[in-house]
Amino acid sequence: MQSDIMTIHTQVTTASRLADLDMENIQFGKIFADHMVSIDYADGEWQTPQILPYGPIELSPATAALHYGQALFEGMKAYKTVDGQVVLFRPQANWARMNESAKRLCMPEIPEELFMESLKQLIALDADWVPSKVGHSLYIRPFMFASDALVGVRPSDTYKFMIFCSPASQYYAEPVRVKIEEKYTRSVEGGAGYAKAAGNYGASLYPTKLAQEKGFHQVIWTDGKEHNFIEESGTMNVMFVIDGKLITPALSSSILAGITRDSVLQLARDWGMPVEERRISVQEIVDAQAAGTLQDAFGTGTAATIAPIKSIMYKEHEMELPPVADRTFSNKVAAELDKIRHGQAEDVHGWMVPV
Ligand code: COI
Repeated sequence: MQSDIMTIHTQVTTASRLADLDMENIQFGKIFADHMVSIDYADGEWQTPQILPYGPIELSPATAALHYGQALFEGMKAYKTVDGQVVLFRPQANWARMNESAKRLCMPEIPEELFMESLKQLIALDADWVPSKVGHSLYIRPFMFASDALVGVRPSDTYKFMIFCSPASQYYAEPVRVKIEEKYTRSVEGGAGYAKAAGNYGASLYPTKLAQEKGFHQVIWTDGKEHNFIEESGTMNVMFVIDGKLITPALSSSILAGITRDSVLQLARDWGMPVEERRISVQEIVDAQAAGTLQDAFGTGTAATIAPIKSIMYKEHEMELPPVADRTFSNKVAAELDKIRHGQAEDVHGWMVPV
């Protein structure tokens, strides 16, 4: 029998931590809002959704996700508009991408209504946790993991889907220095790079740590065969403006279909800017920088939105990019996204969804 998945059981906290939050000094990902969503999958169906006070969960040491990485996550944000309304940015896109990741990882897909209703009720309950300052937001972390307690390697029969939230300011405090990665690979053709699989991020930590020890913020990932073609930047998609054209690697099995990526490309097209989604060789970037036609470079992602790239290190040579303040496109698109999200510009694409 199908459980009553659309009745959300809510237990409101008796000890809100909101008063302890300093909205002026938010550090990314360190403070968690009062409530969380928790929905179990068992016996082939989603069980009754619950909203609970945020807190620890109990797990068996044999929990499958901890051993074999059958786990995925999403990143999304809620904003407060200038007239005080709480809105979500493109939540259906996160729901759809989450189900693409779920398919790749042999996990159950989640019905749109279950995802959206539990999300909206959670954000409505924790609406006071949404910062109102332009550029600030409530970062939302939906995730799902295999919860069978079993050591055998096979898809789990049970799963837990959860959502928690964390007030967010800027992800990067300064423009990033990046290094082209020539040894390690984030993902290969046919791999799970396009999915938001937890393991993709775990495997990226060591090469990133090596780059950080040399003073870089992150690496630019290149293709797994020859390390000649650009894929992503750190945990973000990457874009370049060369000679007035916006250029970004085309989506593939090794590149995440970023929602910020898609939004930036859409705005560029709206403004009549030439957009190219294609393979980009490292040599093309080196040549453009030498010719003075590399006008802009930046990462795009939910956490960072637009992260300007200050310089790119390749084979012991650090290429300096134009001063961030002079970059027309990335500054314009970052400002426009802020305006749309805070209700200060027309939302022509219907991206904002009220809670
Ligand atoms: C996001 O931008 O939401 C990401 O997934 C990056 C994250 C790992 C902080």
